[in-house]
Amino acid sequence: MYLPSLFLFSLLVLTPISTALVQDFCVADLSLSNTPSGYPCKKASHVTEKDFVYHGLAAAGNTTNIISAAVTPAFDAQFPGVNGLGVSIARLDLAPGGVIPLHTHPAASEILVVIQGSICAGFISSFDNVIYFKTLFKGDVMVFPQGLLHFQINSGKTPALGFASFGGQNPGLQITDFALFANDFPTELVAKTTFLDVAQIKKLKGVLGGKN
Ligand SMILES: *[C@@H]1O[C@H](CO)[C@@H](O)[C@H](O)[C@H]1NC(C)=O
Repeated sequence: MYLPSLFLFSLLVLTPISTALVQDFCVADLSLSNTPSGYPCKKASHVTEKDFVYHGLAAAGNTTNIISAAVTPAFDAQFPGVNGLGVSIARLDLAPGGVIPLHTHPAASEILVVIQGSICAGFISSFDNVIYFKTLFKGDVMVFPQGLLHFQINSGKTPALGFASFGGQNPGLQITDFALFANDFPTELVAKTTFLDVAQIKKLKGVLGGKN
């Protein structure tokens, strides 16, 4: 009895309250810059329940765009409560014909759960370039390993809705087509490095806003 209670007593007396709170969470102070290890913490005395709740995923994203799809993130920059916790979530809306084009999240693995409609989703392994894809229906989940190229396509005739959770507060996003055709990567270098025809590259640059 004596030793454990002495231990508890010393924990209570010696542990500064602020340290205990910092270990529980580190709500992002969005007035400061993000860093490789996340945002600096907001002062614990300024944290409220509002920091741990986010309403931004309640409404459908606007799918009137070139991909007929919308990704609405609740990452650290939108949802300060996830800062430091290594988790985040996003809403995926896919109109009929919609697609989240081939992309990667450099900093996190992903689990997608389908809430409505059907989504053909897949990823490509980096080790031997094997494609793993499957049509998912309401309630199905699929996991996408960190950093691997993957995609989601609405494979039905009705709008599809899903939520993607991430093992990171800021998973990052790089869309392959945008990396190739939405910037000023010179067309002759894109052709040389991808083996695509110049005409096809120019066409895609025209659609996606690329130059040169
Ligand atoms: C959705 O986006 C399109 C294209 O930018 C825009 O014209 C339209 O007003 C937006 N719709 C809503 C409801 O915001």
